[in-house]
Amino acid sequence: MPDYARIYARQEYLTPGAARTVGIIAERVRPDEGTLLLEMAAGKGEAAAHLTSEFACQVLAVEPHDPFVHISAAKFWHFNLRDLVTLVRAKGRRLPVRDESMDAAYCIGGPSIVGLEPALRELARVTKPGGWVIVSDIAWRTKPEKPLGPDWGWLAEATPTTAAEYGAAIAGSGLTVEEVVTHPLEDWDEYWRPMLEVAAEAKSASATGGADIFFADEIESLIEIEQRGQREYLDYVTFVARK
Ligand SMILES: C[S@@+](CC[C@H](N)C(=O)[O-])C[C@H]1O[C@@H](n2cnc3c(N)ncnc32)[C@H](O)[C@@H]1O
Repeated sequence: MPDYARIYARQEYLTPGAARTVGIIAERVRPDEGTLLLEMAAGKGEAAAHLTSEFACQVLAVEPHDPFVHISAAKFWHFNLRDLVTLVRAKGRRLPVRDESMDAAYCIGGPSIVGLEPALRELARVTKPGGWVIVSDIAWRTKPEKPLGPDWGWLAEATPTTAAEYGAAIAGSGLTVEEVVTHPLEDWDEYWRPMLEVAAEAKSASATGGADIFFADEIESLIEIEQRGQREYLDYVTFVARK
């Protein structure tokens, strides 16, 4: 598995358009001091840090990957947010949370990694009736006519799911889709830029003998596949749904 903590060293959000999705969450949920939110696949905890510091709401942030749990914990400590964010190391398929206990739930860039249907089921389960469930993910604008070859890397292994199919899965988990936002290309560019900086740094360290060309190549080829995928097949989409 690639060293994601290193690849994402220069960015706080690990998903295209995450800041825009957080803006959508804030606009729809209108969190305040009495609001309890569940975040699945919290990554470096940036969304939870932003929402709690802006609105003084509470977030239960769930993330299983150790390096990201440590980075998030340090962030919540550094910004004095530990009274507002509870960080739990757990996987998305089985949240350690009671049914209908959250005012809203969100998962930015995670449902397809967790497993689409199980993730949506859990988000729906923990949310109170009438609460918002907001997710963002890759959706296929166009499906390939034949299976993608090995030059497509991880995309060749992915299950192509269109935004309509994704919306149907959300509806199948007992939620009503109210809005579908397709992110602009600039959201992808903003996501790739810091990774390309990490690759450039890994290469340029060659002058001092500290280069890691293999690592730089790994990042560049991951991004090249995503850029090709974005041009030909992929959108990044935020779905806003209600229980
Ligand atoms: C694309 S990142 C998104 C992180 C964060 N939401 C953001 O946008 O910055 C996907 C996250 O899912 C987490 N993840 C991977 N498998 C998971 C699982 N089974 N349950 C919950 N989270 C998982 C990863 O560790 C990673 O933090």
